[in-house]
Amino acid sequence: MRFILFILFCTIKSTLVISQDINPQGEPIKCNAPVVLDAQTNVFRNYALHSHSAWRNATLKAAESIEDSTKKRRALRAAAQGVFVWIENPEDVYLLEELTKDIPCNEVLGVVLSGLSRIDCPENNMPNVTALPSYESLFLNPVVRIIRENPTVGFVVIVEPGVIGKVVKFANVNTTSCDNVRQSWRQNIPITLRSLELPNVITYMDAAHGGWLGWKEVQREGAMEIANTWKNAGQLKQFCGLAVNVASYNAWHAIPSAPWSKADWNPARNEQRYLNILRKNIRALNVTMPLFGIVDTSRAGVQGIRRRWLDWCNVKYAGFGPLFNTNTKDSNVDALLWVKNGGFSDGSSVVNLRTDGSNCGGEDAFKPMPARGDFSQAYFEMLLENSKPGMVRREMVRLCA
Ligand SMILES: *[C@@H]1O[C@H](CO)[C@@H](O)[C@H](O)[C@H]1NC(C)=O
Ligand SMILES: *[C@@H]1O[C@H](CO)[C@@H](O)[C@H](O)[C@H]1NC(C)=O
Ligand SMILES: *[C@@H]1O[C@H](CO)[C@@H](O)[C@H](O)[C@H]1NC(C)=O
Ligand SMILES: *[C@@H]1O[C@H](CO)[C@@H](O)[C@H](O)[C@H]1NC(C)=O
Repeated sequence: MRFILFILFCTIKSTLVISQDINPQGEPIKCNAPVVLDAQTNVFRNYALHSHSAWRNATLKAAESIEDSTKKRRALRAAAQGVFVWIENPEDVYLLEELTKDIPCNEVLGVVLSGLSRIDCPENNMPNVTALPSYESLFLNPVVRIIRENPTVGFVVIVEPGVIGKVVKFANVNTTSCDNVRQSWRQNIPITLRSLELPNVITYMDAAHGGWLGWKEVQREGAMEIANTWKNAGQLKQFCGLAVNVASYNAWHAIPSAPWSKADWNPARNEQRYLNILRKNIRALNVTMPLFGIVDTSRAGVQGIRRRWLDWCNVKYAGFGPLFNTNTKDSNVDALLWVKNGGFSDGSSVVNLRTDGSNCGGEDAFKPMPARGDFSQAYFEMLLENSKPGMVRREMVRLCA
């Protein structure tokens, strides 16, 4: 059924996906009735991902100070791409309120919930960063309130990127920080998925990427943890499946995807393989969990730029990856899209300012970079320069073949 819809869609896609609905005054045409998203279908065939105003403001301003006309054109193209809003602290929640104000009726707002992810495991034995009871009350509930207050806006929510990798890979590490990560995930994520059971929301659970859970020795444990999390949420109607490669640099289907030889020992050496392996292992558990996928391609335009797979912080020589599209040639994958807001720092490159045990000062990282969440003109321009045709370079863009 999904496949037939896809073929139909490709014949009429340009009017549905590419253009924003704009009235003669140049304002977005918002929905005048409650939005109902059907998780049984690929929602991205009817709704494009919204380019939210914080992203547009930063990237349009960056484009203004670019002299080179080719690069400027690419910057404008990047500014028009949808990207997700990252909610990482209770203080970010107000931003969501602001960003829901201008969503056209043919677009959805992408939201990343990332309130657990900066708890260090296994590196440090830190005091409890996110006290368990407060995730729900201080972080989740305010987000859910804003979504409920905006029934005429459609939301796509990715739940807690990066955490599942640690939960599974460090399952036997008993430091306070790892105990916290496990407890926080197992206690809060089912509640989160349950709380987001609203008609105007679809959800994807983060499944890290092939470099975390694609290795043979953790594949089964990864599948079990993911399936259990889904099961513990109870019957879900708005859940679509898994988000992979969020904020990372892995290839969608290139082979080989990376030059280091160890990557070839990983059966999940690109994200398409990873999703297929996960799906197979989860199906083997006989659960009916929906397993459609979305893939973050924001910074995946260039491969072979890292010394170690797990180098993830502001990687040098990265380029913008494939633009939003539903022509994934894989009926289980709903869309390639940009989750990470490319150009915004993953963390400061000044080593003694690091707070999260990251590798932002390492060999593979671009320097200098500002504090996490701050915009870097230089990094943004590097992503533009390194993009390949069909990415922010227009030459070969084809949405439907
Ligand atoms: C983006 O800029 C517009 C126009 O200056 C402003 O109204 C809006 O609040 C800004 N958005 C954000 C998220 O800062
Ligand atoms: C962290 O929280 C857990 C669960 O509430 C508690 O048992 C533990 O003692 C706390 N650890 C620290 C270092 O505060
Ligand atoms: C960690 O705790 C679990 C459960 O108490 C135990 O089974 C496991 O052996 C411990 N691991 C280590 C490395 O101590
Ligand atoms: C799944 O179902 C099949 C067929 O009924 C059965 O052989 C298999 O043992 C089941 N697997 C699990 C993990 O329950």
